[in-house]
Amino acid sequence: MNILILGGGGREHSLAWAVLQNPKCDRLIVAPGNAGIAAIAECAALDILDGDAVAVFAEENAVDLVIVGPEAPLAVGVADRLREAGFVVFGPSAAAARLEASKAFTKAICDAVSAPTARYARFTDAAAARAYIEAEGAPIVIKADGLAAGKGVVVADDEATALAAVGKMFAGQFGAAGAEVVIEEFMTGEEASLFCLVDGETILPVGTAQDHKRAFDGDAGPNTGGMGAYSPAPVLTEAVLTRALDEIVRPTMAEMALRGMPYRGVLYAGLMIEDGAPRLVEYNVRFGDPEAQVLMMRLGGQALDLIQACAEGRLAEKRVNWAEDHAMTVVMAAAGYPGPYEKGSEIKGLESLPEDSTAMVFHAGTAEEDGRICAAGGRVLNVTARGTSLREARDRAYALVDRIDWPDGFYRRDIGWRAL
Ligand code: AMP
Ligand code: GLY
Repeated sequence: MNILILGGGGREHSLAWAVLQNPKCDRLIVAPGNAGIAAIAECAALDILDGDAVAVFAEENAVDLVIVGPEAPLAVGVADRLREAGFVVFGPSAAAARLEASKAFTKAICDAVSAPTARYARFTDAAAARAYIEAEGAPIVIKADGLAAGKGVVVADDEATALAAVGKMFAGQFGAAGAEVVIEEFMTGEEASLFCLVDGETILPVGTAQDHKRAFDGDAGPNTGGMGAYSPAPVLTEAVLTRALDEIVRPTMAEMALRGMPYRGVLYAGLMIEDGAPRLVEYNVRFGDPEAQVLMMRLGGQALDLIQACAEGRLAEKRVNWAEDHAMTVVMAAAGYPGPYEKGSEIKGLESLPEDSTAMVFHAGTAEEDGRICAAGGRVLNVTARGTSLREARDRAYALVDRIDWPDGFYRRDIGWRAL
C-alpha cells in the first residue's frame, strides 16, 4: 500500500521507520519530512494545513492511507477534508480534535462524565480572572484555551506570576487562542501518558510513557516540548491503567460519540497520578513527541497494522503483541533551546552509528546541506534505544549519544531517573 505521513519531526521519523518495518508498505511519502526521513522515504513539499492541497496530492499519488502526525492539520479539518474525498485517514475530525484545541471544551466534557481532573473556572474577562486568582491563591495553573504551540500553560508558583500570565493572555499573547482562559487547581503527583487507539467505538491501549519537560538535569530549567521519554511508565500500573480507562478515557469517548463526534485516531491522555488515583491533565489528539519515538521503537512494524485497523474501523479484531521490553529516547537540542538558538551547525558522527530495531537516531529539526547534516530546529535529534530493562535501554541510548559529535547541542544526562 501507498502511505502518506503528514509532519516532519522526530515523531514522524519514528512513525515512518515503524511503517517501513511492515512489508505491507510499498511506497512511503512524508510531507514535509526532514533530513533523517529523507534517508528512508520520499519527502514532499506540501502545505499540510491545506486540506485541498493534501487531497489533490493523495489522489495524484494513489495514496491508500494518510497518517496525520501533528495536531495543527487536525484542528483545521485536514482529516475531514480527506475523509470527504474518500481517503482512509488516521486522525480525528476537527470537531473531535477540540479535545486538544480547546481546554474549555475538554473541561466541559470531563464535567459531563465526571472524569477526575483539576477543579477549574473559565474566563473571557481579565478582571474576573484576577479576582478568581486572588481568591484561590497560588500555586495555580493558567491556560490559554486554544492551541499555543505548547506554550499556553503557566504553572504559577505565586499570585504575581499568575496575574501576569492572565494579563498577557488577555492582551493577545496567543491571539484568539487566549481570548478565553482556563484557570485550574494545581495538581500534585507523578505525570505519565497513556496512548489509546480509538476507531469511534473500540479503545485499544497501545502503550504508556513518561517524558521530561524541563530543559536541564534534575528537572530544572524552563519547560520544553520534552527532553526525553521512556516507555513503559512504571507509575501506570495495571490498577492505575484500569482506573484511567474506566474513569477517564472510556467515558470521554462515549460522550464524544453521544455528541455526534466519535473519536478516530490516537488519544493521548496526560495523567497526574497520586495515591494510585489518576486525574486528567490534558488530552492530545496525536502521538506525543518524543513519546512516539519510544512507542514506535517498541511496537515496530505492527504499528502500521494497528494504525490501519484504527483508520478503517476494525480495531475490535486487533491485539497488541507486547514484548517485555523498555525503550528510552534522549533529545539532543540546540544550545539555547527553548529560548533563541542558532541554526546551521554541523552534526558529525551520525553515519557510523549502528542503527537497527534496537537503536535508532530519529531526526527532528535537521536539514541536509551539501551532504552534511545540520541543525535546523530547537529539538534536533532523538537518540532512541530498546532493551530488556530500562537500564539497558538507557545505557544503549547514551552510548550512541556519546558518539555524536555536535558541540553546539546539549542534552540531559538523567532521562529516566525517576524510574531507575
Ligand atoms: P500542557 O501544555 O497542557 O501539556 O501542560 C503543560 C504541563 O503543565 C503539563 O504537562 C503539566 O506538567 C503541567 N500542568 C498542566 N496542568 C496542570 C495542573 N492542573 N496541575 C499541575 N500541573 C499542571
Ligand atoms: N511531549 C509532549 C507532547 O508531545 O505534547
